[in-house]
Amino acid sequence: MFSLILNQNENRYTMNGLKNRITCLMMLGAAFTTSAAFASEGVEVDHLGVNNTLVRITGDGRYLLLPVQESNDEAKVDVLVDGKIDKTINVRLAKSKVDYLVPFDLAPYKDHSVLLNIITTQDRSNIREVKEDACWSNLTLSDTFDTANKEYYRPVYHHTPQYGWMNDPNGMFYKDGEWHLYYQWNPYGSKWQNMTWGHSSSKDLVNWEHHPMVIEANGLGAVFSGSSVVDKENTAGFGKDAVISLYTSAGRSQVQSLAHSEDNGQTFTIYPGNPIITLESEARDPNMFWDEANKQWVLSLAHALDHEMLFFTSHDLKEWTLQSSFGKGIGAQDGVWECPDLFKLKIDGTGEEKWVLVCNINPGGPFGGSATQYFVGDFDGKTFKADTDATGKIATKWMDYGKDHYATVSWSDAPDNRRTLIGWMSNWQYAAEVPTLQFRSSNTLPREAALFKGDDGQIYMSSAPSPELLKLRGKLTLNVSNKSVGRKAREFALPSSNGGVCEILLDVECKKGETVDIKFANKAGESVTMKYDSSKNTLSFDRRHSGIVDFSQDFPAVTVAPTFDNGNSVSLRIFIDKASMEVFGNDGKFVMTNLVFPTMPYSIISVAAEGHKARIDNLKIYSIN
Ligand code: FRU
Repeated sequence: MFSLILNQNENRYTMNGLKNRITCLMMLGAAFTTSAAFASEGVEVDHLGVNNTLVRITGDGRYLLLPVQESNDEAKVDVLVDGKIDKTINVRLAKSKVDYLVPFDLAPYKDHSVLLNIITTQDRSNIREVKEDACWSNLTLSDTFDTANKEYYRPVYHHTPQYGWMNDPNGMFYKDGEWHLYYQWNPYGSKWQNMTWGHSSSKDLVNWEHHPMVIEANGLGAVFSGSSVVDKENTAGFGKDAVISLYTSAGRSQVQSLAHSEDNGQTFTIYPGNPIITLESEARDPNMFWDEANKQWVLSLAHALDHEMLFFTSHDLKEWTLQSSFGKGIGAQDGVWECPDLFKLKIDGTGEEKWVLVCNINPGGPFGGSATQYFVGDFDGKTFKADTDATGKIATKWMDYGKDHYATVSWSDAPDNRRTLIGWMSNWQYAAEVPTLQFRSSNTLPREAALFKGDDGQIYMSSAPSPELLKLRGKLTLNVSNKSVGRKAREFALPSSNGGVCEILLDVECKKGETVDIKFANKAGESVTMKYDSSKNTLSFDRRHSGIVDFSQDFPAVTVAPTFDNGNSVSLRIFIDKASMEVFGNDGKFVMTNLVFPTMPYSIISVAAEGHKARIDNLKIYSIN
């Protein structure tokens, strides 16, 4: 055994010109063990102490597959290229078992020497223990990696990263027929870390294509959320129609950085003059738009710990002037303010326009954890002023009444004056614990925002499913109209194809003051119950028995939405994917997005009326293509 190690070492030491050391080792003979061990072909592992290991790449292969164990602590990996640190990543390298492998791309380093200097933090009594770690023998060079998406809870029709952790969607823009979606991505594991901008694009908001990551950490820090615009008039000087992105560089402090793309967002160049905005306190998630009325760029920035949004203006996207702030003491204040978005919308049925300020907040959402609040008001190019209600107060309004809708922002430059938004379909309370492994989290379905006047005279924002989603509809598996229901539930089968994913339309009407239960159940005894309450004008969603719920005490929950209709009926459009249910009510006047993890698909929808007879109509169920 010893001689084998020594022979292989000889190669390596010779390669490094350290022949003397070999001679020395040979003289010491069997009484001396070297620190080296070997992984697979082309990967040399050299343990230097209980918390430090070197991994040298000597073979060929596009990727080095890094074995990850989620429950293990993070190791700090300095990637040395020709002796210089190129980047540092944090990876939960496997100790007792390998949960999955993540690819580390070696393509940029072809024909260079690559050495990983790995620092671990675990307590070890001796090197023998370190050598037993599962990661070392599983480090593998490969030209491919697993993209099979085999996991049970991988959505069928929601956007997810190909692998690894994802949180906020950000930097989205539409150009030349394509919707570009960037997202907070950890390419080296399925928990939050190593933030970069991952990239996907779509021609129809339904089918997504994955692209290589576009912006990764540099000396200023990790790459947090931001936004992009198409610079049609070349105001920044990077060329007409260049894509300009602003993002937060999060190192020891948070500062705002600029990058631009001359190839429609496929690759970005980091601006050498970064950072372009610095403040004395934590601020992040720059979100900008062109303000045509005032011929200027406007930027909203989350002054996170101060629970307010800051507004800046600029003429060249590089130099920004602070104009005002909004939020101190207003709306939900129980968490940090993050990911702002500011845009103008028409009020349905009138020619009037109003501004909407989206303020994501974490925690402090209506059902715990993260959620998206918004304010309706006016913006004069410098200052945002929220509308007050009849009592003179500024009401807290929520974009979605589920637990799994966060970091929602819109696409810039969307066609036909559309305001299309997408959220992260999870909640910071348990996002890292949900029962998936190779990937974590998906986006919500894209939604179209509009304004409507509520019965209380206030203006609210509706979010209806984007029209492109009609394309998902497959076979109409059920079409039922005008049926009465009583206490005994009427049951209907849900489609079983494609893992049971489907879209359901349903109108429910009952005597004013009564309630109707809509239940989704499977053969494992798991269920989701929605209750329409016509006296409170609410729809609730109970996921306490929906399937796997015990990974976090914050997951089992009942969420409740106002129906924005004082009558005695509600009209629902429900999208079920492998691990989520999105309920759009009354044409998007309210939405509830909740994750669910049933151990088998829900196979039955049943409707029962607690009081007298209720009526269901327009019940249509479509399988999903
Ligand atoms: C919101 C957020 C942002 C930040 C990003 C970091 O979920 O906290 O404020 O930019 O996530 O990943």
